[in-house]
Amino acid sequence: MELLEGEREEIVSEVGNITEKYQPEREKLLPVLQEVQGRLGYLPVLAMEKIAEFLRIPTIDVYGMATFYNQFRLNPPGDHQIKVCMGTACYMVGGQIAMDSFERRLEIQEGETTPDRKFSLERVACVGCCTLAPVVVVDDIVEGHVTPTRVDGLLLAYDGEGRVPAESARQVEAGQQDEQQSEQEGEGEQHS
Ligand code: FES
Repeated sequence: MELLEGEREEIVSEVGNITEKYQPEREKLLPVLQEVQGRLGYLPVLAMEKIAEFLRIPTIDVYGMATFYNQFRLNPPGDHQIKVCMGTACYMVGGQIAMDSFERRLEIQEGETTPDRKFSLERVACVGCCTLAPVVVVDDIVEGHVTPTRVDGLLLAYDGEGRVPAESARQVEAGQQDEQQSEQEGEGEQHS
């Protein structure tokens, strides 16, 4: 991913500030990576090169560790972070279809960020709202019953000014109310 203006200098300076607190020993690789990601939000290639230089190890070793642990991300987080739930309940009712729709629309793959850094896309495990499956979380907002058409609507809503689409929150609320209502009706039928 291309670096933004001024980002190169920021990376070099942040990595420098962090590494100066450590001894240049290979076993410091993990904590250094964690700290660099904490500061930069991800691990750019330049940061990994600088870390390798500091620890006097091959860059491929740094890259190997960064890709081994899924706590590390190699792409910058987008202004809007889209997380598609791939837990069993969501997967069974169209989680993969939602993921495919986002990938097609954004022209990126899961784990990547759009070149303008507006959106990043990733898969997550169950987020605990299985009754709304398939579920997508955009930033901190849970979107339920996500169909390909809904994907288009969401991207339109979050594009532009990056504002929270009130409509989607209302739809989720309405969905929850519908579900509660049908559950209550179901209970009522059982009691009668
Ligand atoms: S499996 Fe997606 S919310 Fe539980």
